[in-house]
Amino acid sequence: MKAAYIKQTGPPEVIIYGELPRPQLGASECLVQVAAVDVNPIDVYIRAGMVPAKLNFRYIIGRDLAGTVIETGPKVKQFKTGDRVWVTGQGVGERQGTFSEFAAVDERWLHPTPSAVSDDEMVALSLVAITAHLGLVRDAQLRAGEILFINGGSGGVGSSVVQIAKRLGSKVITTAGSDEKVERCLKMGADHALNYKTQAVDAEIKKLAPEGVNVWWETLREPNFERVIPLLAMRGRMIVMAGRDARPAFPVGAFYTKDCSIHGFAMFNATAEEQHAAALDISAWAAEGKLRVPIDRVMPLSKAAEAHRLQEESTVKRQASLSGKIILNP
Ligand SMILES: NC(=O)c1ccc[n+]([C@@H]2O[C@H](COP(=O)([O-])OP(=O)(O)OC[C@H]3O[C@@H](n4cnc5c(N)ncnc54)[C@H](OP(=O)(O)O)[C@@H]3O)[C@@H](O)[C@H]2O)c1
Repeated sequence: MKAAYIKQTGPPEVIIYGELPRPQLGASECLVQVAAVDVNPIDVYIRAGMVPAKLNFRYIIGRDLAGTVIETGPKVKQFKTGDRVWVTGQGVGERQGTFSEFAAVDERWLHPTPSAVSDDEMVALSLVAITAHLGLVRDAQLRAGEILFINGGSGGVGSSVVQIAKRLGSKVITTAGSDEKVERCLKMGADHALNYKTQAVDAEIKKLAPEGVNVWWETLREPNFERVIPLLAMRGRMIVMAGRDARPAFPVGAFYTKDCSIHGFAMFNATAEEQHAAALDISAWAAEGKLRVPIDRVMPLSKAAEAHRLQEESTVKRQASLSGKIILNP
């Protein structure tokens, strides 16, 4: 089969596109013919060696896929040949990644794809929507009527947070880096979207949430607690999920005297059961056409190195800004 893999970490050019043997099928695994994969910031960090990860070289890159089951192991109970499925969180520990024509995936990680949703749309949602759901529902326990602020509503995670928070009945304030992206956040359901390059965001937040923000979702890798904590409401919750090397100052008094809490999490720690609980809602909302993540471009899998270069320029180097997910088709 064709696959995109690495034999060592390094710049995007270490990605090899070539022939590898099809994976062996384990007893509880499904062999999936991959229709679509996507690129996440974490893929860049791992390929570049920016985060410590135990990789089994040669290592097939990629976390997510959408495709069709073409064979099942003898212990598989939930899926049969012909089922359309999606998955996230592959390429961790012993598991190889997803950037290949075929992937063997344990059935406990697989979710059914609704017929109304394309493979490209489903894979675009996979990691980012599960992340948004875990943070909003499991961790912050966002309630109807609460005010949520999401810093970066135009990104992969951010666009999922905006839409899921609206489904949960909250008032959503967000930011984006251009007027066009602001417009798109409003179309996705945000009540207020601010251009962080041209508007005084904090002054606007104070006007829109005079009692403070109930939940603040930070997507930036440099969380600024001195800025955020004064803008939180009593019992406000903050979600932190990026910035491994960040060491920001922390105003302790302003935090505990308002009974605030901070929730940090990494989606790849979620159990299969936690992922399934999130995936049920995500698939249902996607089937209703109520949850979509913007797609910047679709490329062939053979362009995996170029896709990584584009994602790196946007996420790490901030030299260019993507307008959604990069999808690749084998
Ligand atoms: N912990 C976890 O489980 C988990 C899961 C998924 C992702 N992550 C991490 O979360 C981060 C975001 O991921 P993503 O996939 O959403 O990335 P992304 O699609 O690249 O989105 C980045 C967002 O940040 C915004 N942004 C950039 N500079 C900004 C600034 N100065 N002020 C405000 N907003 C700014 C961008 O806005 P514009 O494009 O409009 O400028 C965009 O909305 C990454 O670091 C990723 O590794 C963590």
